This record gives sequence, C-alpha cells and structure tokens, in this order.
Amino acid sequence: RRVQVGIVGAGPAGLLLAHLLRRAGVEALILEARSREYLETSPHRIRAGVLEWGTKEMAVMAGVGDRMLREGLEHKGIYLAFDRALQHVNFQILAGHGIWVYGQQYLVRDLIHHHLGAGGEILFEHEVVGLENLEENPVVVYRTPEGQEKQLACEFVVGADGSHSLARQCIPQAKLHQKAYPFAWLGILAETRPAAEELIYASHERGFALFSMRSPTLARNYLQVSLEERLEQWPEERIWEELNLRLGGVAEARPGTILEKSLTPMRSLVVEPMQHGRFFLVGDAAHVVPPTGAKGMNLAFCDVAVLYQALMAYYRDQDRSLLARFTSEALRHVWQAEFFSYWMTTLLHTLPDPFEEKLRQAKLRHLAESPHLQRFLAENYVGLYTSGRY
Ligand code: DHB
Repeated sequence: RRVQVGIVGAGPAGLLLAHLLRRAGVEALILEARSREYLETSPHRIRAGVLEWGTKEMAVMAGVGDRMLREGLEHKGIYLAFDRALQHVNFQILAGHGIWVYGQQYLVRDLIHHHLGAGGEILFEHEVVGLENLEENPVVVYRTPEGQEKQLACEFVVGADGSHSLARQCIPQAKLHQKAYPFAWLGILAETRPAAEELIYASHERGFALFSMRSPTLARNYLQVSLEERLEQWPEERIWEELNLRLGGVAEARPGTILEKSLTPMRSLVVEPMQHGRFFLVGDAAHVVPPTGAKGMNLAFCDVAVLYQALMAYYRDQDRSLLARFTSEALRHVWQAEFFSYWMTTLLHTLPDPFEEKLRQAKLRHLAESPHLQRFLAENYVGLYTSGRY
C-alpha cells in the first residue's frame, strides 16, 4: 500500500496534520498503537487543558472547533497567589488576547470525530515497528491487531508519537538538549467547583500548587512534590489539606470526589534536527516542556502549522525549500516555549538550593510589581507564535 504522508501517532499533532492535509487534498494515513477508546476515554490520558488564543483559532480554522467553542471556557488571564495575596494578571489587557480552557483529550476526540467523518483514515491498534529508507523511499513497517507485519510506502513520514517517541530514534546523529527538574507534580481531577473562576498559580514555602479546571464542576489541581513521592503517600484528605495550605487563605479548594490521581516528572527536551531526509518530527516526539504554563499541545500545533505549510509548498508548487528549512523554522518557536516553560517552572516552584530560592522570591516580587514583566508573562502565555507576533 502507498500514501503521500504516513503519520505515526494519533495525538493532537498527528491528527491535526492529517486533517489539514486531507482538507487540502493530500492523502495522509495515521497509524496508532492504542485503541480509539483508550485515546478518548482513558483517565491516564488526562493532559493539560489550556489552549493559546491562536491554538483555539487554528482548531476553528481546521473545522474541528464546534464543540470546543460550545463547551470550552474563555479566560481573560490568570491569578498569581503568593505572600498571602492574590493578584490577577489580565492577558487581554496586556497582550490583546485571552486563553481557552478545554481538555486535550476532548480535542483529540473532536479531531478523530471530524477526521473520520470527512473520510480520513486512522489505523488504531496498529503498532509501528520500524521506519526504513527515510532518505529516499520511506517505508513504515507496522503490525496489525492480528499480529501480521505489513509495509506502507510513503512520500513523507511524520513522527508524532509523543514524549516517549520511538520515531525520534530514526534521526541519526540527533542531538538531545535536556534538563531534569528536582521535583514532580501530583495531579488530581475532582468533581468540585474550581478554586476560582480562572486559574490560580500559587507559590508557597511548602511548594507550588496550581488550581485549574475542565468545567465549572470539574477541578484540575496540582501539587509540587518530591521526585521520590508515591501516590500511596497521598490519601484524599492530605491532598485537600495541602492544596488549601498552599493557597494561604486567598481562596478555597473545596474537597470533592477525586476521579484521577497521577504523578508527572518534570523535564525539558529538544531534539535537533527535527528531520532526516523525508522524515519529520512534530510535537512531544521532537520536544518536551515541563507542564507549568501549559505549552505542550500549543507547541505541537505550531510545529504542525510549519510542517503543513512546507508540505503544501511541495505539493502545490514543487517547492522543497520550506521542507529543507523545517527544523530551523520550528526551533524558533520551540526554544521560545522551552524558555517560557523553564521560566515559569523555576519562578513558581520552591528550589532546593537556598541561594537560588532567594533569587526566585526576588523574581516573583519583581513580577508582582512590574507591568513589564507581567506583559512578558502575558505575551508568552497567550502564545507569541500562534497570535502572529513573530
Ligand atoms: C493545566 C496544566 C498546566 O500545566 C498549566 O500550566 C495550566 C493548566 C491543566 O491541566 O489544566
């Protein structure tokens, strides 16, 4: 079998790319190791839920935004909580746009629905076991649910298989730029009213806490914990007590039924280059950001926008120059998002080094007082690239 573009992975990046290409008349086929049900409903798939203004726009322009516009929540900005005070940072005033709160797995569900509805094809439960001949005539080797090995010949192959990417290994001599952080996040999803009508990023001596949401009745909260922590050490009462301690009295996290609990280690990773021959990496396969600031999926959408333009230049005008420049073009927004995620992470989490911890507190107080720094935060949070600032 042959297709124009073979895509490994049906996450937000692979799905959006396949859907955009299909709308432009380019045939793409997605191979995904998991089942559709797992992608859409598994509680372990609960990911970030903040869309940059431009990410929301991209979903609308791709024709998959109907449900997002109906059920998502528009936020003007965020709250910062520290030194026992609550401060609102208004992105709409500082950067001209708000943000959109809508769970990543809801968007995945919508993308699958629209892509299949438009006649697109996704091979669920088909595991890719090898990528061959990526310089000349790429071949994707995969296993069917029945265990048969098959081959798909492609003009281009895209690796969109997430943070534990296997496709990533197909870039020979790739450099991995990495950083690990000395803490993790304990995340919960709970049936209760969110702590405030917009997100609260709380920095407290006991550690960072984040109060987010998925709807007016579903709270999504996180606690900074040590790397050695285990979920068994966190019974429900302890979680609610700690969340409230870290709010320092400026708001209240009301206990409710906890639907999901998870631990997330924090790391940064950039793969360079993001391409080899007729093979390209997008999304978490190419880079990972720590979750603070919710850049992951937004960054994946930026990669897809750049690769889509490059593929269309090739298919429309036989112009290969944008494909040749894919890595250098994408790395501009990648490093900007890496920088912002690092900045947010090291600004808000208590740090083990006492000197760095004092510097951090100085930075945070400066942010509270400086409209310039608040604007820096706002511009980055709403998205420098998707809102067309660059
Ligand atoms: C969420 C996650 C984040 O990392 C963040 O910065 C904001 C919100 C969330 O899951 O809702």
